[in-house]
Amino acid sequence: MLDWIRARRSIRKYTGEPVTDEEIQALLEAAMAAPSASNRQSWEFVVVRDAALRQQLAETHSWSQMAADASVVFVVLGDERTSDHWVEDTSAATENLLLAATALGLGGVWIGIYPRQEREAHVRAALSIPEGKRVLCLVPVGRPAEQKPPRTQFDAAKVHWERYGGRG
Ligand SMILES: Cc1cc2nc3c(=O)[nH]c(=O)nc-3n(C[C@H](O)[C@H](O)[C@H](O)COP(=O)(O)O)c2cc1C
Repeated sequence: MLDWIRARRSIRKYTGEPVTDEEIQALLEAAMAAPSASNRQSWEFVVVRDAALRQQLAETHSWSQMAADASVVFVVLGDERTSDHWVEDTSAATENLLLAATALGLGGVWIGIYPRQEREAHVRAALSIPEGKRVLCLVPVGRPAEQKPPRTQFDAAKVHWERYGGRG
């Protein structure tokens, strides 16, 4: 598991080879294994394979263009009426999905939508997402056409021992 955590990198180039239904199912199961506040599981997912819809998602903002080239885009939604913690719940689910993609030899990237209202409005209109369902992010997934080295970004200066500013 620690190896997968280090190996997960943002993959933005894809070969175009399809992601299978079984892989999509495995990614969704991993996402929904995440912790959530009071176990309310305030997440939902729109699975977008259609090329025209992916193109629309790619046009959400200037850093979302890889949605057009991915095999599938997971649109991660939170239900603000179910939980005040929908942002945390859906973030945990998104990280699980990205880690599972890494473990399956797939590549993906977190494309931020929340908290930018204009981005959310664009995705909401493209996919007919109802009021009350919030859009955390897009996660394009495909077979990697770029490789990045595993790494941590451990920084001892960001760690405080016993109290803020304390040294280990
Ligand atoms: C909240 C959030 C929003 C992000 N939004 C974007 C985005 O819109 N487009 C993009 O290409 N990458 C996006 N990323 C990916 C980051 O750029 C990436 O995680 C960071 O540069 C570290 O690289 P790594 O994922 O390879 O470790 C986002 C990541 C997070 C957590």
